[in-house]
Amino acid sequence: MDGTCLGFRDWKGVSIMCGIVGYFGKRNASEILVDGLRRMEYRGYDSAGVACLYDGQIGVVKNPGKIKALREKVDASELDILHKSTQGIGHTRWATHGLPNEINAHPHLDASGHFVMVHNGIIENYKQIKAGLAQQGIACVSDTDSEVLIQLIAYCYKDNLESAVSEALKKVKGTYGIVVMTDHEPGKLVAARCGSPIVIGLGKDETVIASDASAIIPHTRDAIYLEDFDMAVVTADGVQMFDLQHAPISREVTAMEWDEDAAEKGDYAHFMLKEIFEQPVAIRNAIRGRLDFDMGTAVLSGLDFSPRDAAQIGRVLVVGCGTSMHAGMVGEYAFEEMAGIPAEVEQAAEFRYRNPIVTPQDLVVAISQSGETADTLAAVREAKHKGAIVAGLCNVVGSTIARETGRGVYLHAGPEIGVASTKAFTCQVAVMLMMALKIARTRRLPRHEGEKLSRWIERLPDLVEKVLGENEAIKAVAQKYADHENAFFIGRGYLFPVALEGALKLKEISYIHAEGYHAAELKHGPIALLSENTPVVALLNNIPGKDKTLGNAEECKARKAPVITVVSEGDEGVADGFDDMIVIPDCPPCIAPIPTAVALQLLAYHIAAARGCEIDQPRNLAKSVTVE
Ligand code: G6P
Repeated sequence: MDGTCLGFRDWKGVSIMCGIVGYFGKRNASEILVDGLRRMEYRGYDSAGVACLYDGQIGVVKNPGKIKALREKVDASELDILHKSTQGIGHTRWATHGLPNEINAHPHLDASGHFVMVHNGIIENYKQIKAGLAQQGIACVSDTDSEVLIQLIAYCYKDNLESAVSEALKKVKGTYGIVVMTDHEPGKLVAARCGSPIVIGLGKDETVIASDASAIIPHTRDAIYLEDFDMAVVTADGVQMFDLQHAPISREVTAMEWDEDAAEKGDYAHFMLKEIFEQPVAIRNAIRGRLDFDMGTAVLSGLDFSPRDAAQIGRVLVVGCGTSMHAGMVGEYAFEEMAGIPAEVEQAAEFRYRNPIVTPQDLVVAISQSGETADTLAAVREAKHKGAIVAGLCNVVGSTIARETGRGVYLHAGPEIGVASTKAFTCQVAVMLMMALKIARTRRLPRHEGEKLSRWIERLPDLVEKVLGENEAIKAVAQKYADHENAFFIGRGYLFPVALEGALKLKEISYIHAEGYHAAELKHGPIALLSENTPVVALLNNIPGKDKTLGNAEECKARKAPVITVVSEGDEGVADGFDDMIVIPDCPPCIAPIPTAVALQLLAYHIAAARGCEIDQPRNLAKSVTVE
């Protein structure tokens, strides 16, 4: 596979909200399918199912709830098909159209029961297709958009499954990653992709299809990555690739890179805790080889611009969603402060729809851990369309945003499994700082200042290590506040985005209603909500604006709100008179977001743990939001 396809560098995996797995080989299919689904559990889902084909018959088992329940149902099934089949498909569903119940779960059968399919993505014109099918007397039984597609495929079928699939897909608007099979043609699986990743793992005498590398890695490292409008036909003769006109095409086989241990919890109670503790290593990997102390700059070759290109950038626009947007906000401050370059950060969905003013002198930086977030991807396309220089900042190598931007920086943070982003955030901030440094050095930042900053970036893993050393102290604070139902986080300057991120972490995993505010904004409304039941986390690190935030914290205290302070080491005195204190290392303002965010991650984690929450798979959340 060539460099363009892989984005800025090599491949490690793909991500998507729902999970798809398919198996064709000689081993027990249902076991491999259920295990593949278990490996993709982290993506977030609310129902799951498998379908197997054996002796000319299809057997389906599906269930709302967890994979464990599906496994039990499969094991207890009296259907011989499920125990003898060596060919099948499986799915974890994150409900969009219709409740997470058994009928809406995948795999979906057509009305005749001869065709079965799993689908990721959204069929946008499903209502029209459904109406057309109804006119032909074909009724759908579920509320899903997906079911209409398998009904349509069955309707288009004459004597060849891939022809029917390509016929049906030509009528579809929206996004899909699908795997289909029919008992009319046992010994065949057909997969197709448009906007929803599909990877085909080529094992010895077997083929594993999945939407996420984690389901393939245990079986093989050789893979074909489908591109949009590709179709793969898997039979005993191997894998053949076609375009949607059913004309043969060729796709190269790529060796997947993935550290299998990285996708296991090890001794940690949760992936989130493991990933919090991985941050010193993750940040070290993100900055490795990218700092040039002599020149006081950063070397980010994936950005692919010369100092002359960098000097011509007139403005930086950062787009992203959720935690990634918060990292972008830190970047916004860094670009302005270090490089003296106008910078803005915008929620990607807003950017894509409000017809933004973008010029060829703009550098648009799309931040996305997964590289698959639908709104961020659409913002990339809009910015490219308007002629901007567009760079990606992704963790997942080879992801769609990495491929479509073609230039950018990989985080190298390793797979992030916990739905609540932790190590990706701190690595994103570290990379944003390096990006700002690189551009700043083509402008007004002197070499010695650049060197000083590089040295601080280099120290980030140690600073984070120190915060991790406070784990027990932070846990003790967390346990005091675990019973509250509301919380506020306040900060200023570089710590304002961290206040937003701290609140987001807490609400995501503990379900406590938490809001992050600029400390000055508190008086413009939220202060009305303060009482002894609304703890306030005040970020009082030793950076400009600290004294003003201190005043705001006093105002909270005066309204009886318990105040948890985050203070710099050596400056503990500022916490006097407040309720609790978390100490982090003293460091410059632009560096402070990283150790501070780590402390707030631990606070959120321990509060959620004390409340007995499902930390790695919080309710209603998905790791990667691939729908609007
Ligand atoms: C989801 C995840 C968040 C993440 C956001 C953006 O909401 O739960 O943790 O920050 O998507 O994801 P991205 O992959 O684009 O960074």
